[in-house]
Amino acid sequence: MQFDELVMRRRTVRRFENAPVTREVLAKIARLGQRTPSAGFSQGQRVVIVTDPEQRRRVAETCGESGYAEAGFGNWISECAAQFIPCVSEQTYHRRYQEADKLDDGEEIEWPTPYWWVDIGKTSMVLMLAAHDAGLAAGFAGPQDVPALKAVLGLPEEFHPIGVIPVGRPVPDKRSPSLKRGWLPFEEFAHWERW
Ligand SMILES: Cc1cc2nc3c(=O)[nH]c(=O)nc-3n(C[C@H](O)[C@H](O)[C@H](O)COP(=O)(O)O)c2cc1C
Repeated sequence: MQFDELVMRRRTVRRFENAPVTREVLAKIARLGQRTPSAGFSQGQRVVIVTDPEQRRRVAETCGESGYAEAGFGNWISECAAQFIPCVSEQTYHRRYQEADKLDDGEEIEWPTPYWWVDIGKTSMVLMLAAHDAGLAAGFAGPQDVPALKAVLGLPEEFHPIGVIPVGRPVPDKRSPSLKRGWLPFEEFAHWERW
């Protein structure tokens, strides 16, 4: 698929075939997700890929799946081919920026922006686009119980899971009511030369 077509056609899908996808395809999505930039090449991003149906159900519970089902979306977080959970370690960035080439007057920089959140967002976007490029679709569910999600996945303490990205072959789904907001006019989004 052409890049512009991929970007314009991607959307958050909330219903998938409850059927597997080959490990090769899932691994390719993860490999593309790894190829995202990071501040200082800190590489504090990781991804956990869950295919086991029971484990998918446990993960989905931490995102309040039953609430979605009651609202008519179905069990879209657990019923899929795989869940990709992007995780990030803020501490990795602090350790990296305490290395000699990154010190500012002998000190770790004052962070202008918490770049770990920026970087894991980019990782997530590439994962979602890679899923679409593979002929699949992806959604995004924010965790409602982060400690429970960390426990289910056995994450090291310093890693934070930012969300759950269910991936699979798309089937017709219920659209989010948020979409009624529509896109901002392009002129409001983009400002030339200065705001
Ligand atoms: C950081 C982030 C968190 C989101 N959390 C949820 C969520 O918890 N549940 C959900 O159904 N959709 C969630 N979404 C999906 C958004 O609702 C969706 O991206 C937005 O409505 C635009 O729709 P589109 O992705 O189809 O273009 C999230 C998206 C982002 C980027």
